[in-house]
Amino acid sequence: MTGLQIVSVDKISFRFAEGEASIMENISFGAEKGEFVSLMGPSGCGKSTLLRIIAGLIKPSSGKVTYMNRQIRGPTPGMSFVFQDFALLPWLTNLENIKLGLSLTNLTEEEKTAKAMGLIDKFGLAGFEDYYPNVLSGGMKQRIGIARAIASEPHVLLMDEPFSALDELTANTLRGDIMFMLQSKDISVNSVIMVTHNVEEAVELSDKIVVLTGKPATVKEIATVGIARPRNKRDPKFEEIVDEVYATIAK
Ligand SMILES: Nc1ncnc2c1ncn2[C@@H]1O[C@H](COP(=O)(O)OP(=O)(O)OP(=O)(O)O)[C@@H](O)[C@H]1O
Ligand SMILES: [Mg+2]
Repeated sequence: MTGLQIVSVDKISFRFAEGEASIMENISFGAEKGEFVSLMGPSGCGKSTLLRIIAGLIKPSSGKVTYMNRQIRGPTPGMSFVFQDFALLPWLTNLENIKLGLSLTNLTEEEKTAKAMGLIDKFGLAGFEDYYPNVLSGGMKQRIGIARAIASEPHVLLMDEPFSALDELTANTLRGDIMFMLQSKDISVNSVIMVTHNVEEAVELSDKIVVLTGKPATVKEIATVGIARPRNKRDPKFEEIVDEVYATIAK
């Protein structure tokens, strides 16, 4: 971390319609360069909505989100989204699904194919490029979802429960692979904001965990996870932070 603020969420409040009660109020936190931030909170409190506001897909009722000091007013090229249910298009091949992530770039068709093939290799999916998503396991589908998100070389990755549709073994492997990849020098992503329900996952991956209250969602506490990487779940310090986060959620 460098102290350089990449994303700043500034006093965000949101209601779906004029006159309705706010579902979130006065939410503020930031993601610095190199920081992995997790968002946790009760089911239905508005985490997905908040992530969509950060992505510029929904307009906040008040407050603002800035990316590299510029206010977000719509989808922003430097930020990409990873969905819980992968959101792959079944009528496109796996390669074409990754190329979708390049549709707003100026690359030629050949360049897009070359880049997407590079990601197919990087994600251990060689040989599957011309198949359709239906032949893939859940873990492989999410690899395509993440490859599509990082294809355009975003600086910020917004992930909404990216591992929750996977069995624990697959999720664990993918988490490890994602962390390894994020630390590699040829990856553009330098900040991540992830929604999760899984406390152990949040402590394993995050530098900071933003715990929200429900109805309306407000920031209850921001926990810092000051453990060196790679992290060992059996480390007493790891368990201590897991317990602290559980206690924060429960209080
Ligand atoms: N279009 C909509 N109009 C009105 N209310 C909505 C709309 N979309 C979602 N909601 C409500 O807003 C609240 C927040 O939804 P959201 O999906 O952001 O929560 P969440 O924290 O991501 O939930 P989960 O943990 O189940 O994924 C929920 O109570 C939901 O029912
Ligand atoms: Mg959600």
